[in-house]
Amino acid sequence: TAGAPAPARTRDPLVISHRGASAYAPENTLAAVDRADALGFDWVENDVQLTKDGVLVVIHDTDLKRTTDAEAVFPGRAPWAVKDFTAAEIARLDAGSWFGAQYTGARVPTLRQYLERIGHNRQNLLLEIKSPEIYPGIERATLRVLRQEGWLDSSHVRDRLVIQSFGANSLRTVHKERPDVVTGLLGTPAVADLPSYAEFTDEINPSYTSASGTYVAAVHALKGPHHKRLRVNVWTVNNRAHALRVAGYGVDGIISNAPDVVRKATAIR
Ligand code: G3P
Ligand code: CA
Repeated sequence: TAGAPAPARTRDPLVISHRGASAYAPENTLAAVDRADALGFDWVENDVQLTKDGVLVVIHDTDLKRTTDAEAVFPGRAPWAVKDFTAAEIARLDAGSWFGAQYTGARVPTLRQYLERIGHNRQNLLLEIKSPEIYPGIERATLRVLRQEGWLDSSHVRDRLVIQSFGANSLRTVHKERPDVVTGLLGTPAVADLPSYAEFTDEINPSYTSASGTYVAAVHALKGPHHKRLRVNVWTVNNRAHALRVAGYGVDGIISNAPDVVRKATAIR
């Protein structure tokens, strides 16, 4: 059934560059955040994981095969899991040439290097703690680096940082350690379970394929730990039709590899 027409939108959704502007530059590299910056996007999403020696690095897959030359540089180290390599080893890898020859020499950044670059660019961060079940202690390690780099100062915490994860327990830990930090739960929990998540999370961030106007309204009906309405950011929306569809759901933000395409589609004139 069609139901009542959705009310007219009064503002544009926030557009967040997924792994940087990853349609145009190798994902999760400094080149990708610089490309987002050049396109005029101040929110970037990334993924953080821990190396064998406990350094936070910015990479999506839990192994190095797809986005680096690890198999060639370290033959015999199958399955090339991030957690089995030191930061110094990962720093030797090429994380750009798989995407295009002009990016040869791009590196897997450490979280510290990444924060310094986006700080320089004056960008804001939606940081994903990736696969926390593999990395005991990753929440405290992440908070430590964020604090040391000034990202837990009050102005950053208020306006410039969100920590998200598919791991609800990971977010519970973040919230317990630093109740001031804004958090987002990835996935589409059942509506009946949303109030329990709202005790420690400020955003529910589902795949756009599992979202709907009804679901967004159910999330919006709740308040998070900071007494504000819960927000919804959907991922990963890369074309005009999907952008228009999710904007119609009333989402707060759209996470995209091609943020320029989404902004063009959803800008209210
Ligand atoms: O930001 C949401 C999105 O990144 C979650 O999925 O697999 O791309 O990290 P994934
Ligand atoms: Ca992610």
